[in-house]
Amino acid sequence: MEGMGLLAAFEQMYGTSQQEVKVFFCPGRVNLIGEHTDYNGGLVFPCALSYGTYLAVRKSQDNVLKFASMNFDYKEHAHLDDLDRKRDGGAWVNYPLGVIQQLRTKGFQPSGLELLYTGTIPNGAGLSSSASIEVLTAFALNDMFQLGHNRTEMALMSQRAENQFVGVNCGIMDQFAVAMGKKDHAIALKCDTLDYELVPVVLGDFRIMISNTNKRRGLADSKYNERRSECDAAVTYLSEAGKISFLCELSLDEFQARQHLIPDAVIRKRALHAVSENARVKTAVACLKAGKLEEFGQLMNASHDSLRDDYEVTGTELDTLVEEARKIDGVIGSRMTGAGFGGCTVSLVHKDAIQAFQQQVAVAYTARTGLVPDFYVACVGDGAMDITGL
Ligand code: GLA
Repeated sequence: MEGMGLLAAFEQMYGTSQQEVKVFFCPGRVNLIGEHTDYNGGLVFPCALSYGTYLAVRKSQDNVLKFASMNFDYKEHAHLDDLDRKRDGGAWVNYPLGVIQQLRTKGFQPSGLELLYTGTIPNGAGLSSSASIEVLTAFALNDMFQLGHNRTEMALMSQRAENQFVGVNCGIMDQFAVAMGKKDHAIALKCDTLDYELVPVVLGDFRIMISNTNKRRGLADSKYNERRSECDAAVTYLSEAGKISFLCELSLDEFQARQHLIPDAVIRKRALHAVSENARVKTAVACLKAGKLEEFGQLMNASHDSLRDDYEVTGTELDTLVEEARKIDGVIGSRMTGAGFGGCTVSLVHKDAIQAFQQQVAVAYTARTGLVPDFYVACVGDGAMDITGL
C-alpha cells in the first residue's frame, strides 16, 4: 500500500522514464531493554518495527541527486561535486548525504538519482526514524550499484554518517537493529563485538505497547553527547585499577570494588547505570527465552528507574507516562525507550487491558502534563528490504 502511493507520487514529482523505479523499506525500532549501554560496549535488546521508512529511487542522466520527502515540504538538489557539504538547520537530507559520503569513502561513484522518501515512524519519538533513513539509503544504493556491503557494514557506515556528518555521537544499536531485524524476534546484541542472537518474541497474552509522550526532544542531542563524555571520564578513572576500554566490561561486583576511583558522584552514578543496565539485559534475555515475562517486566521497570535516578535522561513526561502505565492492571513492565529526554515508553500490557490502558493513561497523562499521548501496539517486523513490485 505504502509502496503504491509512493510510486504514484514519485511519477508525479519526477515524471516517467525508461529507467526502473526501485522501492525499498527500512523499519524503525523499539528497544525492549538495554539503554545507553551500546556505546559503553554492553548489551542491548531491540526489535525492528513494522513501521518504517520507504524510498522510491531511480537513476537519472544528469549529475544531480534530487531528494524529496512526502512527510516534509523540503527538497534538495545536490550536485555530484557538492555532496560532502552539510545542509543547514538539521535538514533530514543530511542523513542520506552522510551515508553517501561514507559509501564514497569505500569507492562508490554515484550517478544522478531521483529519490523520494516517505515514512510512518513518528519523527523525534525515539523510534529511530533517523537510523531508518540512513540504513534505507545505504541498503538501496548498495543494491542498485551492487556495492557488495553486508548488513553489518551498512549499519556501521550509517552510524559513522550520524557521528561524523550529522554530529550525534550515537552508538550502533539503532542502525544495527533496523538493518538486521527479523519478524517476531528481538536482537540480543553485544555492542563491543557485534555478536548477536535473534531471540523469538513470544509474549503469550501480552503485547508491546509503545506510548509517545509527544514531547519534542529539545536538547536531546547535546545532552546525549554529554552523557557519552561522562562515561568516557568514568572509564579513565576506573582504568587506574587496570585498563578497560568500556564500562560494560565490568560486572556489577567489579564496578563496586573500583567505584571509589571516581571522585565525582554524578559520574559515578552514570557509570553505575551502564554497568547495572548491562546486567539487567543479560538476565532479561534469559527471562524472555524461558517465558518468564513477569520477571522481564520487573527488569524493564528497574531499567527505567535507573535511567531516571542514575542516568537522569527521563524527565517529567516520560516519568509520568511510566507511572500511570504501571497503575493499570495487566501492565507488567514499563520504561522509556531510546535516548530519553522525551520520545516514547515501551510497556508490556495484557491484551485485555489495552483499551483501559489507552483510556486511563491518556486521561491521567494529559491532566498532569497538558500533552496528549499517542499509542501504538507494536508488531515486530523485518529489517531493511527491497520491496520493488510488492
Ligand atoms: C539513541 C542512540 C543509540 C542508543 C540509545 C540509548 O537511540 O542512537 O545508539 O545509545 O539512544 O540506548
